[in-house]
Amino acid sequence: MMVFSTPDDMRHASAEWRAAGEQLCLVPTMGAIHDGHLALVTAAKKAAKRVVVSIYVNPTQFAAGEDFDSYPRNFRADQQKIEAAGGVDAIYAPQAMYRDQHATHIVPSGVALPMEGESRPHFFTGVATIVFKLFQHVPADYAVFGEKDFQQLAVLRQMVGDLNLPISLIGHPTVRETDGLALSSRNHYLSAEQRAIAPLLYQTLGKSAAEILAGGDIQQSLDEAKSHLLAGGFTKIDYLDLRDATNLAPSLTAKADDRLFVAAWLGETRLIDNCAIGSHPARSR
Ligand code: PAJ
Repeated sequence: MMVFSTPDDMRHASAEWRAAGEQLCLVPTMGAIHDGHLALVTAAKKAAKRVVVSIYVNPTQFAAGEDFDSYPRNFRADQQKIEAAGGVDAIYAPQAMYRDQHATHIVPSGVALPMEGESRPHFFTGVATIVFKLFQHVPADYAVFGEKDFQQLAVLRQMVGDLNLPISLIGHPTVRETDGLALSSRNHYLSAEQRAIAPLLYQTLGKSAAEILAGGDIQQSLDEAKSHLLAGGFTKIDYLDLRDATNLAPSLTAKADDRLFVAAWLGETRLIDNCAIGSHPARSR
């Protein structure tokens, strides 16, 4: 696997592949590679002949007091995991993505406003700006993103459409532990006790999905789900919403592809999850 650390080297390799008529797929990550990321890599290999994984812990999507400093960074381990999963053509691991005088940002509105946009107002500006820059350095035909961060995928689809970017985005379903917990680098922050509580998040989405699909009152179900999480050991709920999968507007009458979105805290660790109400395994129980 080649490793590139500068935009010029990355652009040069991409240009050679493109000149040979080969399509290119990018998988942006912040490292701490786990099986969720590796599933995106597998999808990328199906989409295009050449695959690039980018690894960059993007400072602009962290607010002061968030976990930028403690975010796990282990390039060798990441490289080995990607290699063990069959490898990719290149890893793009830029040292710095922002020059000192950086003063230009992409500030998404629309689907970026609710949920994460309210809880973490800096977040999608940081994500959109870095992903736009990555798309300049790796001029790919495709990029794969996980539905684990469904709102992020929606924000990036909106950016690609609004700015006419010549790239197709591929969404990949959330990869979960056997107990339902969505894989996330932040799961490593959980104590053994918190880890035992964490699966309640996806279980609770399932309970709510089943109730809502059965015609139950949406607001009542969401309120009960929040109480259930707090009673089960979660310490704070940022949001638990039912929303349209395309425009992320609140759903007043439920459709099977509407999604439940949750962000909840276990002590110092913030977990997010989401699912379509018609696809949660608990819906027919
Ligand atoms: P990161 O959290 O490293 O995630 C990289 C990609 O992996 C994202 O598309 C995310 O949705 C996906 N992913 C994470 N956990 C997953 C899981 N359990 N199942 C499926 N996909 C999963 O998301 C980011 O980095 C950053 O915001 C980034 C887009 C790289 C911009 O900095």
